[in-house]
Amino acid sequence: MSLIEAKNISYTYPDGSKALQDVSLKVEKGEFVGLLASNGSGKTTLLRCLNALIKPQAGEVAIDGEAIASLPQKVLFQRIGMVFQNPNDQLFASTVAEDVAFGPSNMGLPKDEVKARVEDSLKAVGMDDLGKKSIHNLSFGQQKRVCIAGALAMHPEVLLLDEPTAGLDPMGEHKIMELLLKLNNERGLTIVMATHMVDMVPLFINRIYILSRGKVLREGTPEKVFSDPEMIRDAKLRLPMIAELIELMKREDGIHFDRTPLTIGEARRELVKMITLRELKR
Ligand SMILES: Nc1ncnc2c1ncn2[C@@H]1O[C@H](COP(=O)(O)OP(=O)(O)OP(=O)(O)O)[C@@H](O)[C@H]1O
Ligand SMILES: [Mg+2]
Repeated sequence: MSLIEAKNISYTYPDGSKALQDVSLKVEKGEFVGLLASNGSGKTTLLRCLNALIKPQAGEVAIDGEAIASLPQKVLFQRIGMVFQNPNDQLFASTVAEDVAFGPSNMGLPKDEVKARVEDSLKAVGMDDLGKKSIHNLSFGQQKRVCIAGALAMHPEVLLLDEPTAGLDPMGEHKIMELLLKLNNERGLTIVMATHMVDMVPLFINRIYILSRGKVLREGTPEKVFSDPEMIRDAKLRLPMIAELIELMKREDGIHFDRTPLTIGEARRELVKMITLRELKR
């Protein structure tokens, strides 16, 4: 049984915008899944449906086989963590530690347990020395980390993140992705994240869903999904930059590659192999 399953869900906003149409998705325990799509494709709407912030007009979302519509909100917020795109929509306490403590305190946990969870979560996101700092004085990247810590403190079974790297500098982007990968690898946390950062996907994510105009266009490993450049362009996305270069070399320069590398590391290996073979032939 999948940990999270959306079965044929559709959602139309009150103004008539059809944000999701017949979307199905399955996430297994321990997976790191990406929802990859251009702006306005339905990523945020889908994440909101997955943690019952909004209720699809058709279809159903289940966690461990149980329809989420039938679960009390308090249970849901504990089992399914959510990190919003904008930290301002999430942070509201005055200090970092108070904010992270809010969820566990609200669950009615004993003080010691709340304290231990706050410490552990802040440590996990590398913010353990900033517990007393005012939320207002944090940098944007630090705010994002506190949002993740707040969700972790609930000990959720699955963490949903809406563009966790948006607005960060290149190093910040990488650090957040490494943090998520670590949480996935070391704690076995199941992760579903929305993103439009195609270059990042093959480095970190096992499986992706491509959304376009509220529908799932394709699902699979990055290798599988990016092997169809036409579909990717149809979704108003592009291949990872390095794959665009290799595709161009194949098409315009007639250079043969066994496969299209998706990361700089893979491209380097392919190119070194090719150059070494040529030199040997000389
Ligand atoms: N509150 C709302 N009321 C009406 N329409 C909405 C609302 N929120 C989103 N939409 C519409 O639903 C569609 C999907 O929007 P959604 O925010 O889910 O896309 P997204 O993939 O998250 O986009 P982005 O990358 O810009 O965050 C869009 O056409 C959008 O205009
Ligand atoms: Mg969005």
